[in-house]
Amino acid sequence: LSLCGAVLVLAYLVGSTPTGYTVAKRLKGIDLREVGSGSTGATNVLRTLGKGPGAFVLMIDCLKGVLAIALVWWLFNFAPSQNLIPSEVNPQLWQPWMVILSGLAAILGHSKSIFLGFAGGKSVATGLGILLAMNWQVGLATFGVFAIVVAISRMVSLSSITAAIGVSLFMVLVHQPLPYILFGVVGGLYVILRHSSNIGRILAGTEPKLGQNLQLEA
Ligand code: G3P
Repeated sequence: LSLCGAVLVLAYLVGSTPTGYTVAKRLKGIDLREVGSGSTGATNVLRTLGKGPGAFVLMIDCLKGVLAIALVWWLFNFAPSQNLIPSEVNPQLWQPWMVILSGLAAILGHSKSIFLGFAGGKSVATGLGILLAMNWQVGLATFGVFAIVVAISRMVSLSSITAAIGVSLFMVLVHQPLPYILFGVVGGLYVILRHSSNIGRILAGTEPKLGQNLQLEA
């Protein structure tokens, strides 16, 4: 379906929108890919530019996730009434799959942005936005895990990894359809994979806590 394909490309582009990179470049002329963790996500913005810009990027990156899912709601509400979806396609069956594909496209876009030479963030904030739009209970529970672990450990990466592990479990607990559970598994694994350098530092005891600095390794 070309309309579904267009929505996925759009979701990827929404995810790709380089919020953190643009904010850092505009405010301080800094290329986020070359400082701190090298990530263009909100944590590296917080580390490099402070709380205000960090909160702003967190909010916008989260909204990118919401938007990627809203595109699918729009597609399935608008397209049938315009006869853009062929009658043999069962919207009830297709919608959850489109939701997760769109979510994955946005996550991929955020971490491998076409506007940044396929660099980017670790897809945590965008992932949270996606979860809140898919199922707000799962989104809130995931954020809750993140908040508890960050309060105890003061390590954003460890909190993101723990929250990513929790997603599929929460999906099962609130009886979500199979595609949503699969999203929890695939998206969760992807986010954990994006944290491989953080995991190395956590194990070595060198992962910075909130407020501590980080020198980009060569
Ligand atoms: O949301 C990303 C966070 O979990 C880690 O970011 O910059 O410390 O690698 P960073």
